[in-house]
Amino acid sequence: MKTVGVVGAGTMGHGIAQVLLRARYRVLLCEISQKLVEAGAERIARGLARDVEKARMTAEERDQALARLKPTTVVSDLAEADLIVEAVTEKFELKAGVFRSLEPHCRPEVIFASNTSSISITRLAATTRRPEKFVGLHFFNPVPVMKLVEVVPGLQTAPETVETAERLATSLGKTPVCVNDFPGFVSNRVLMPMINEAIYCVMEGVADAKGVDAVMKLGMNHPMGPLELADLIGLDVCLDIMKVLYESLRDPKYRPCPLLDKMVNAGWLGRKTGRGFYEYPGK
Ligand code: CAA
Repeated sequence: MKTVGVVGAGTMGHGIAQVLLRARYRVLLCEISQKLVEAGAERIARGLARDVEKARMTAEERDQALARLKPTTVVSDLAEADLIVEAVTEKFELKAGVFRSLEPHCRPEVIFASNTSSISITRLAATTRRPEKFVGLHFFNPVPVMKLVEVVPGLQTAPETVETAERLATSLGKTPVCVNDFPGFVSNRVLMPMINEAIYCVMEGVADAKGVDAVMKLGMNHPMGPLELADLIGLDVCLDIMKVLYESLRDPKYRPCPLLDKMVNAGWLGRKTGRGFYEYPGK
């Protein structure tokens, strides 16, 4: 495998492209507008510049990596990819639409991977004509730093597809952990209810955001408190994932906290909008 397509150049997509470039893959990065794809390429360039600063790569290696990046807004440009990772917004219809638009341009042996954090891989795979070549490849934010990749086979995924996905993750310096296709997989089945419960604590006045975060950082040794982490992930993403857990497992214990709903309605989505549980001046 030499060429990897990445659809979506946002927080996750640009990070995935960056680690692929660092591992010497050629990357075709696709977005819906020139502005978005350029913003993604710029973030990648900044990330690689940081690698040079930290002596993780030379300036020459950085230039070679950037030369292997092809930003595009044309889906048919992804025809040359050997594997495609989709990293668009966490909505089923949007993701299914991406794979529908890719299908006519991609060779039958090309693997389709989704970076979804909670949507059923089995259901997404069933919307394509290559369900046995479909797999979940779930990266973590910030992608260049976090070691884990959850590899998620759907019911129809062939064992060779899983092996290829695991090999890819390993070649990026990540540790793949294969988990079965259930809502939220393992990561978000465990993480999101914790974040949701932390928001209930704020809503019910058990403590303010700083207090809740201090308890979890100092008492449980978490590197970030759950509310700082929610701001990093994006409150809209947290809400989407809670809704998937609630609607697919049909258990009231996954009920999204009303305060989370309210903050998303206000457009307080965390770091990316300059305000969430904390304020981020300058964003
Ligand atoms: N993007 C890229 N790199 C980042 C970054 C970001 N947003 N934030 C921090 N970094 C890098 C820093 O540049 C630094 O790297 P250098 O070697 O270049 O200096 C490194 O991470 C460490 O950063 P800091 O020293 O500033 O801060 P830190 O030691 O507190 O670490 C952290 C920062 C790695 C983000 C750490 O706080 C942490 O691990 N937090 C938890 C993150 C987490 O749980 N992520 C998973 C979220 S869930 C998810 O993504 C999946 C989902 O489906 C929702």
